[in-house]
Amino acid sequence: MKIRIPYWVKIGAKLVLSRLPFGYSFWQKLGMFRHGEMDISTYAIDVFDTHMLKAGQSGILKGKIILELGPGDSISTAILAAAYNAKAILVDAGSFVRRDVAPYRLLAETLRKKGFSAPDLSTVKNIDEILAICKANYLTNGLQSLKQIDTKSIDIIFSQAVLEHVRQGEFLNTLQECYRILKPKGICSHRVDLRDHLGGALNNLRFSDRVWESTFFVKSGFYTNRIRYNQMLELFKKAGYKTEVTTFTRWETLPTPRHKMVREFRSLTDDDLLVSVFDVLLRKNYKQ
Ligand SMILES: C[S@@+](CC[C@H](N)C(=O)[O-])C[C@H]1O[C@@H](n2cnc3c(N)ncnc32)[C@H](O)[C@@H]1O
Repeated sequence: MKIRIPYWVKIGAKLVLSRLPFGYSFWQKLGMFRHGEMDISTYAIDVFDTHMLKAGQSGILKGKIILELGPGDSISTAILAAAYNAKAILVDAGSFVRRDVAPYRLLAETLRKKGFSAPDLSTVKNIDEILAICKANYLTNGLQSLKQIDTKSIDIIFSQAVLEHVRQGEFLNTLQECYRILKPKGICSHRVDLRDHLGGALNNLRFSDRVWESTFFVKSGFYTNRIRYNQMLELFKKAGYKTEVTTFTRWETLPTPRHKMVREFRSLTDDDLLVSVFDVLLRKNYKQ
């Protein structure tokens, strides 16, 4: 039987546990506070292939530069890009990737068995060697890292469950930087998960901005920026993109009672609040 832990117990536990004097790799090994699942080869292959397919890039990746925003726990995209004769730049807001080479060797072997020209990682000792072999870069300073990348140098930008984690105050700027570095005919593919990270409902909308955006909450491992669907579409537009929502999933009914939400969210339409996950393609407003 699965026990449902109330959202407020999760918040309380995370507020306390995240303050214990252990580094991220400690929690990673316990499977807590993990930044996604990109260290699992089947997941990484699926995420990469799905974004490339949605972006219309399957089969034409050779020579392209692919930027993954928020790779989380692994540099798998570096290996995947190399397997397609492309290069990857990975940009995260901290250094979270697994440093043991075993999962990367497994991914490369899996790809080679599938017939891809993935690099041979059998003798590598650390992830710096892997990044060098794949001609990939791993940058860990979020928005500041994006600012270091050359204008119009990237063919494809993708992210999986990341945009909702970008700090509210940096969100528009992050979109604008992605716009700047994208080539005129480049494309972005993002999957955005608008559910709270406390059990997959909307319990995060119960809190005022003052509490939610406080350093205490932001640094506790459950932060999402709470930008809602329509607002996010507006921000894509504001950053200059042509937006194409390709899929979206909706709750049938609100998973958290509207009257429990703070006023700014309570006043939103059902249409807006019911979107739980969506996939979007962003292109530059490019004129021939
Ligand atoms: C839920 S994890 C998803 C990880 C990975 N994409 C996956 O699917 O397994 C969210 C990731 O977004 C990253 N992130 C948050 N803010 C960011 C920013 N401003 N720039 C780049 N990455 C960011 C987090 O550090 C984290 O690695």
